[in-house]
Amino acid sequence: MVVSIWLSLCLGAKVFTMFGHKLLGLLALCGLKASASVIVRKTSKGPTGYEVDFKYTNTTAKRVSIGDLQLFTDQLHTTMDTRAWYSPRDYQPGDFPVNYGTQPVDLVYPYEMTNEGNGSWTFTTPLPAGVYQYQYLIDCDYVPNCTIVTGQLVTDPDNPPFQNVIGDQVASSFQVPYDAQFQGTDDISANYDYALPAPAQYRGTIKSVNYTSPGSTHPAPNVHDLTLYLPAEYGKVKGKKYPLLYLSHGAAGNGNDWENQGRVSAILDNLIAGGHIAPTVVVMPSFYNLDDSLPPFIMGNASTIFTALPDSDHIRENYQKYLFPWVEQNLDVCDDPSCRAFAGLSWGGRLTYEMYVNATDYFSWFGMFSAATTPPYITNATLAANPALAQKGIFVAYGLYDSQFEPGREIQATLDSMNITHLSRVTPVGAHWWNTWQDELWWFGVKALWKPYPFTTRTGR
Ligand SMILES: *[C@@H]1O[C@H](CO)[C@@H](O)[C@H](O)[C@H]1NC(C)=O
Ligand SMILES: *[C@@H]1O[C@H](CO)[C@@H](O)[C@H](O)[C@H]1NC(C)=O
Ligand SMILES: *[C@@H]1O[C@H](CO)[C@@H](O)[C@H](O)[C@H]1NC(C)=O
Ligand SMILES: *[C@@H]1O[C@H](CO)[C@@H](O)[C@H](O)[C@H]1NC(C)=O
Ligand SMILES: *[C@@H]1O[C@H](CO)[C@@H](O)[C@H](O)[C@H]1NC(C)=O
Ligand SMILES: *[C@@H]1O[C@H](CO)[C@@H](O)[C@H](O)[C@H]1NC(C)=O
Ligand SMILES: *[C@@H]1O[C@H](CO)[C@@H](O)[C@H](O)[C@H]1NC(C)=O
Repeated sequence: MVVSIWLSLCLGAKVFTMFGHKLLGLLALCGLKASASVIVRKTSKGPTGYEVDFKYTNTTAKRVSIGDLQLFTDQLHTTMDTRAWYSPRDYQPGDFPVNYGTQPVDLVYPYEMTNEGNGSWTFTTPLPAGVYQYQYLIDCDYVPNCTIVTGQLVTDPDNPPFQNVIGDQVASSFQVPYDAQFQGTDDISANYDYALPAPAQYRGTIKSVNYTSPGSTHPAPNVHDLTLYLPAEYGKVKGKKYPLLYLSHGAAGNGNDWENQGRVSAILDNLIAGGHIAPTVVVMPSFYNLDDSLPPFIMGNASTIFTALPDSDHIRENYQKYLFPWVEQNLDVCDDPSCRAFAGLSWGGRLTYEMYVNATDYFSWFGMFSAATTPPYITNATLAANPALAQKGIFVAYGLYDSQFEPGREIQATLDSMNITHLSRVTPVGAHWWNTWQDELWWFGVKALWKPYPFTTRTGR
C-alpha cells in the first residue's frame, strides 16, 4: 500500500512524500538520503507552489523519460478535440490536465530525465494539485511499443503500484496538494485535497482479495480478484453490518485502479471523517478475464482492451452468480437493497446503467460516472413494466471535456423525458480521466450516497 505523510524535513521545508514502506520512508527522509523515489516538495514559489523530484537508478540505460505524466491546457483553448499542451513549467492558475488527443511531435517527450553520469537519473518539475500516474520509459523511441514485456516500461520500485499480481498495474502514482496562493482562481477550482490522507483515526484499510469465481481465467483458474475498502471502524463494533458500495473500473483497467490511480481509500476516509456518509464498505471488482468465452486481457496491452472486453449484461450475470453471494457471505455488509449502491466509471458507468435497468431491485443508489452507454435507452414501456426505475437514488456525472459527455446527456434526456428525477454533476475541468472520476466519487458521496431518494429539488441543498 502506498502511504503518504506530511513531514517537516530537517531543513525546515515542508515535504510531501510517497513511498512503499511507511517506516523505511520516514527514516530515509530524516537522514535526507531520500530513498523515496518521488518527492513532492512545497516550495511556496511559482508557478504552482509545489515541485516534484523524480529519481531512478539504472546503470545500463542510455535514455530515460517519464511516461503518462500529463500536459496542461486552459478553458480558452480547449474543446472536445483540441487542447493547448502547456508544459507544467508554464503553468498559470486555472490550467488543468486533459488527457486525450495527439500530442505535437516535439512534445512527445516533455519529461526527459537527466543522466547524472553514474546511473542516477533525475527530473524535477512543478505540478499543480491532483493525482498523477507515471512510469519510467527506458531507451524508448516509440511509446506505444514500450511495455513491461519488452522491459522498456518500469513502474517505480520504491513506490510500487497497488495491485494483486505484478503486472496488473503499469503505473505508479502520487498526489500533489493544492496551494491557493499559486493555484487559486475566481472561475475554476482544481482542489483535490479530499484525496490526500485523512487524519489517522479515520484511515480504513484497502486490500486486494481473491474470491472463488468458477470459469475465471485470472489471476488463476476459477479465482478472481477484487479490491476491498473497509472503513476504520470495521470489525470493532460487534455484529455491525455496513452499507455496501460496489465501485467499478472502466475499459483497460481493473479493480485496483480506483486505489492506484484514484486514491479511493483516502476519498472514502475523508467522506466518512467529514460526516458526509456513514462508514461504508466498498467492493471494487474486476470485469476482465471473467471466463474463457472471451480472449484474455493483458494489462497494458492495448490490442486486448476491446477484444477482451465483456459487455455489461455478461458482467452483470457473472457478478450476480458469483460476486454478490460471496460478498454477502464473507463480509459484514448489510444484506438489504436499502443500504446497497452501485457506481462505476466509463465502461463501469455503462455497467451501472445495466444494473439500474436489469438489477434494479438489488440496489437503491446508482452512480453513473462518465458512463460509456449507447442507445437504445429505456422507454416509457420499460418504466411501465418496472416502475421502481423512478424510485431510486440516481446520480449522473461527466466532465465538461469528457469523451462521454454525450452519453451522459443522453441518459439525462431519457430520464427527464419520463420525469425520473436524478442528481447531476458536470466536472468543470473534467476530461475522461482520474481527476474527473475522483470529483464524481467525491460529489456522489457528499450529495447522493445513502441520502433519501428519489431525489428532489431539495436533495443536497
Ligand atoms: C535498466 O535498463 C535496461 C535497459 O538498458 C532495462 O532492460 C532494465 O529493465 C532496466 N532495469 C531496471 C531495474 O529498471
Ligand atoms: C550520482 O551523482 C549524483 C550527482 O553528483 C549524486 O547526487 C548521486 O548521489 C550519485 N548517485 C549514486 C548512485 O552514486
Ligand atoms: C511498433 O511495434 C509494431 C508491432 O510490433 C511494429 O510493426 C512497429 O514497427 C513498431 N513501431 C516502431 C516505431 O517501432
Ligand atoms: C491471488 O491469486 C493469485 C494467483 O494464485 C496470486 O498470485 C496472488 O498473490 C493472490 N493475491 C492475493 C491478494 O491473495
Ligand atoms: C437488460 O436486459 C434486456 C433483456 O434481457 C436486454 O435487452 C438489455 O440489453 C439489458 N440492458 C439494458 C441496459 O437495457
Ligand atoms: C415518454 O413519454 C413522453 C410523453 O408522455 C415523451 O415525451 C417521452 O419522449 C417519452 N420518453 C421516452 C424515453 O420514450
Ligand atoms: C412529466 O411531468 C410533467 C409536469 O408535471 C407532465 O406534464 C408530463 O406529462 C410528465 N411526463 C411523463 C412522461 O410522465
